[in-house]
Amino acid sequence: MDLEELKKKALDAIKEAKDELDLTNIRNRFLSKKSEINQKLGGLKDLNEAERKTYGQAINEARGAITNAFNKKFQDLKAYNLNLKLKREKIDITLPGASHHLLGTNPIYLVENEIIHIFLGMGYSVYEGSDVETDHFNFELMNIPQDHPAREMQDTFYINNSLLLRTHTSPAQAHAMAEAHGGPVRIICPGKCFRRDDDDLIHSHQFKQIEGLLIDKKINLGNLEKTLETFVKKLFGEKREIRMRSSYFPFTEPSVEVDVSCDKCGGKGCPVCKGSGYLEILGAGIVNPRVLELNGYDPNEYSGFAFGIGLERVAILKYGVDDIRRFYTNDIRFLNEFKRR
Ligand code: PHE
Repeated sequence: MDLEELKKKALDAIKEAKDELDLTNIRNRFLSKKSEINQKLGGLKDLNEAERKTYGQAINEARGAITNAFNKKFQDLKAYNLNLKLKREKIDITLPGASHHLLGTNPIYLVENEIIHIFLGMGYSVYEGSDVETDHFNFELMNIPQDHPAREMQDTFYINNSLLLRTHTSPAQAHAMAEAHGGPVRIICPGKCFRRDDDDLIHSHQFKQIEGLLIDKKINLGNLEKTLETFVKKLFGEKREIRMRSSYFPFTEPSVEVDVSCDKCGGKGCPVCKGSGYLEILGAGIVNPRVLELNGYDPNEYSGFAFGIGLERVAILKYGVDDIRRFYTNDIRFLNEFKRR
């Protein structure tokens, strides 16, 4: 093919090229070693010097033109593809977004967070327990041996002979004591508990507690009372009073049931508090010396107090909820009541 014709053909092909594959084929055909134009260069040696010079120049000029056109087209295609990509992937930030409805926070979490903050303010740290416990931690180390009648009170979900869903957050006490290696402890442990309860307005087979444990030297019932009074006044308001009634737990001695004065009647007695003037919110007591021993402490050196707060009970009182099951059913109308708190 004559040089001019070859050049025109190459330039036309470059112009027509639609993508990089086309361009690669064109380069192979017109600019590779075996291309016609390079063969023409090879043929120069058969010409005389004057011819060689002019024809050689012409070939180089043609090859240069093809190379330039090729490079330009390559850049153009690249820019074109980039633009296409940008256009396709364009995000219109002015479009309205998908709307999310932010619901109110479940009141269980509201009171949980509030209680955690109150105790953090008193120097406690949060200890995380686990939902599945061993019989050893849930019962034995809490001074509830096999065949102890207190096991009866905590109808239990067993996983096998030694594993169960914890019936209270108290096993966290044993874990925290083990980690403290016989030294002082000041923890709270929020968490789920499970009992094979028949569900009703105030009972559920799954519920939440916040366990508290303080161990140090010379801890007495007065320390416990003041701590719980401070807690109750912070949570429910300065006007509320607490009352301690004697009770029984295997892991505390003496044990108390703590009531808070009724908000409705201020302690005089009304239908809300069933005439008593008080409402029960937690169990507590001085750590039983036997529990200290079981968990590696010398009861002559250390003493402590422990408490277990029922979160549902507190939320029911604080927000006037009429049925414990409302906490678990995710009814949007119920949750929205707590939007602004
Ligand atoms: N573990 C007890 C319960 O679940 C509550 C409690 C905790 C009582 C700590 C005393 C001390 O009923």
